Amino acid sequence: AGPCDLYASGGTPCVAAHSTTRALFSAYTGSLYQVKRGSDGATTNIAPLSAGGVANAAAQDSFCASTTCLITTIFDQTGRSNHLTQAPPGGFNGPDTGGFDNLAAADGAPVTLNGQKAYGVFISPGTGYRNDKTNGIAVGDAAQGMYAVLDGTHFNNGCCFDYGNAETSAHDTGNGHMEAIYFGTETTWGTGSGSGPWIMADLENGLFSGGTTGLNSADPTQTSRFITAVVKGEPGMWAIRGANAASGALSTFYSGARPNVAGYNPMHKEGAIILGIGGDNSNSAQGTFYEGVMTSGYPTDATENSVQANVVAAKYATTSLVSGPAIAVGSAVSFRVTTPGFDTRFIAHTGATVNTQVVTSSSTTALKQSASWTVVAGLGNSQCVSFESRDTANSYIRHVNFALMVNANDGTKQFHEDATFCPKAGLNGQGNSIRAWGYPTRSFRHFNDVLFIASNGGVDTFDATASYNDDISFVVGAAFA
Ligand code: AHR
Ligand code: AHR
Repeated sequence: AGPCDLYASGGTPCVAAHSTTRALFSAYTGSLYQVKRGSDGATTNIAPLSAGGVANAAAQDSFCASTTCLITTIFDQTGRSNHLTQAPPGGFNGPDTGGFDNLAAADGAPVTLNGQKAYGVFISPGTGYRNDKTNGIAVGDAAQGMYAVLDGTHFNNGCCFDYGNAETSAHDTGNGHMEAIYFGTETTWGTGSGSGPWIMADLENGLFSGGTTGLNSADPTQTSRFITAVVKGEPGMWAIRGANAASGALSTFYSGARPNVAGYNPMHKEGAIILGIGGDNSNSAQGTFYEGVMTSGYPTDATENSVQANVVAAKYATTSLVSGPAIAVGSAVSFRVTTPGFDTRFIAHTGATVNTQVVTSSSTTALKQSASWTVVAGLGNSQCVSFESRDTANSYIRHVNFALMVNANDGTKQFHEDATFCPKAGLNGQGNSIRAWGYPTRSFRHFNDVLFIASNGGVDTFDATASYNDDISFVVGAAFA
């Protein structure tokens, strides 16, 4: 059985079921998600390998070979057409054209399920999905349940990495107009024990870790790589539960009365569905989503426990975030441009600015050093790497507002993540493309001889599609100095 078969047996059927990694009904053979490629704008739908099975990631890999792909649609598996697509502007604009949010990279969150490769949905700040015209999702004070499987190590303190029920207008229409799972370290409203991240409920104008805002010490910091997050609500009552999605059972972090503040009892749910954003399209949060559902009715703990067992049996596990020629931690490297006409240039820096310069064996020692980098374990994720300047110790290549800079490590989570890159095989077939860990739609790109992290088509001039594959491919060789 799949998670939605279990909810159906419990009398609380799925009314929305979303996953890019697997079918959530044992009989489901339809499309899981759609990807769109950068080279020609063509789309394809990715289905499970077999009924109830894991997504056909190989079909995505071959469709997206030598170009970039974005996830355009996450299909609803229930038959209700509650699909998730690029979120529109609301109370806040997104960064993409027309105020829409960005779409996620199709290969941003690789994992395995029972040893088979699949891709999750890596939400960078500015990324979001939504459906404002749904069918069968709870409205008003009606009961609903939700679970989601998330990356417990990918979060921030922005508002709000959510999955669940929100406003159909994408505007904040008041307390109680949302009931969604939240995951992260946003501390404006509720907190749990420790320093987070926490599973909380976004009930609008408040993330709740328990019956009131503020600390609920029974809501623990999540420490697992994969987590199962549960939020459910019915008249007068709601609950938060959570677990390691790879082993063990759900624990209940809160179960009890609605917040005693106007608007939350009864609730005013509107029935839109959001992923990766807040109800008003707040879009500064980050996180990774693998699968999740919304139900009609308040699931029993026993039903949810059987869903957790099903998730554990799916055996989520990590897989490599890097590909292409190895870039060894401890080595010292240079990056040579591969774009025809520019291929005597190397990535260098002038003060904080990262640029390309022509460097040869007869260049000055200062120039050679400025074009040489020490590879260290990724400051924000040790599966990837960071690049320390050879002439300025403790300064690293990092991005800020999508420009590359050489800055001193200030020790913050933001710096560490901005300085972490996951090299892939070069998109033009040469060397490596150096992808930003926190923005997998973006890689090192030289543009007018200055370095950015660029997406393949986007709102910034440096996102230009012309010459993209060449501009993001660098031959990584020995350092000059
Ligand atoms: O409740 C927290 C957030 O507050 C909601 O997601 C958003 O709509 C509002 O800004
Ligand atoms: O470069 C993109 C983002 O811009 C960085 O993550 C952040 O430091 C800045 O706001």
